[in-house]
Amino acid sequence: MASQLRSIKKIINGAETSDGAGVRLRRYIASPELDMLDPFLLLDAFRSDDPDDYIAGFPPHPHRGFETVTYLLHGAMRHKDSAGHEGVIRSGGVQWMTAASGIEHSEMPEQVEGLLYGFQLWVNLPASKKMSKPRYQEFEPDEMAIEQRDEHTKIRVISGVTSGGVEGMVKDVESSPLYIDVELTEGSGFLENVQPGHNAFIFLVSGELVISSDDGHDVLSAEQLAVLSDGNQLKLQAKQASRFLLIAGKPFNEPVARYGPFVMNTQEEIKQAFIDYRAGDFGAID
Ligand code: CO
Repeated sequence: MASQLRSIKKIINGAETSDGAGVRLRRYIASPELDMLDPFLLLDAFRSDDPDDYIAGFPPHPHRGFETVTYLLHGAMRHKDSAGHEGVIRSGGVQWMTAASGIEHSEMPEQVEGLLYGFQLWVNLPASKKMSKPRYQEFEPDEMAIEQRDEHTKIRVISGVTSGGVEGMVKDVESSPLYIDVELTEGSGFLENVQPGHNAFIFLVSGELVISSDDGHDVLSAEQLAVLSDGNQLKLQAKQASRFLLIAGKPFNEPVARYGPFVMNTQEEIKQAFIDYRAGDFGAID
């Protein structure tokens, strides 16, 4: 198959907002600029060294119909839920929670000072799996798959398989996602396969990237998200030492009805989610 490079289709700068009990964050997907990027429903970045911005955390709240992915670059968060799971996510660790039929959980900072920097991604489930049993995949930093591609390129593989053959620990996800965290030294290049037909984006944590297209290139700056065009390869170069997330997934192309923490296919199902939650069907946190 001929190479078709994925270029930048749109740059998203994100919008300041707050969520939970008052955590300051920047929202990129589910924002005025980008409603969703099927199967991705939301992307939040929280990054602050001021405890007032994060200390209130995310007290108990429900989810139904999709998956929440928390990935921390710095700091620690304690999570607890109605299925009896409890643990701490630390720098470099991930929690992939398939809320499916319903779960109530809380996520609270496990620190009172210092930098907290992480991401929450919401990934949709197809209609046939929205009411499945909740499932958890959680990995400590030292359990994560890492591909040291060469002296210039370090890839933390959260989910999916890289062209170097390294597979992430998070597996059997409906949208067959690729979720990798890439570090490049200044001036180095990066080439990776991305499944054609899957929607994909880059979030640039730090540095500056030049992304190639079949007829030129575009520049991405730190803390910007780039929605990528379709294609089978991503080719870029780091103008400065850079770190970025590359995330791709299979779109479901199904109707989306969403309200707060519930994402279903119809308004009727959203109403039912509220009824079930009020009736205590999601269980409660001990
Ligand atoms: Co949540």
